[in-house]
Amino acid sequence: MTDTSAWIFGYGSLIYKVDFPYIERRPAGIDGWVRRFWQGSHDHRGVPDAPGRVVTLSPQANAICKGMAYRVEPDVLAHLDFREKNGYARVTTEMNFGDGSRADGIVYIATEHNDAYLGDAPLPEIAAHIQRCAGPSGSNREYLLLLAEALRQLSEHDAHVFALEALLLKMPAQQVC
Ligand code: SIN
Repeated sequence: MTDTSAWIFGYGSLIYKVDFPYIERRPAGIDGWVRRFWQGSHDHRGVPDAPGRVVTLSPQANAICKGMAYRVEPDVLAHLDFREKNGYARVTTEMNFGDGSRADGIVYIATEHNDAYLGDAPLPEIAAHIQRCAGPSGSNREYLLLLAEALRQLSEHDAHVFALEALLLKMPAQQVC
């Protein structure tokens, strides 16, 4: 029988919100990328008039982005394409499982060429933005806090995410876009 399964690599909400079946999952890393809160979210953690901020990947030499890889049946990709439809496109990249083994995996990346892209800003501005937004999937604050916790579980120190978390935790949890 032919194996039609595919690996996908999650680095944001796909690490902690697993609303799809998978055959196996393994912590993994991909070379040459950093995680950044530079993508706008109109449909999950914000709304079209007040988009939230969620993560995408930005190329950076010598960086490794750690996340979670899932081996899935092909029909799961349709679900993920819908979930990640607000600006993300599939890219195939090599994943490193940390024990010397590697496999190709599909990763959803939102580049600066999509309409929802917000790009870089000073960290206090990004944190304040995250603090005030919410969408159909919940508050933007929750997205950041769950991601930071998931990265700790993976023993991954992501300076960008943890700096934003520290700024956010100093702010009161209240107003929403
Ligand atoms: C991902 O998690 O891999 C993509 C970004 C997101 O859905 O948060």
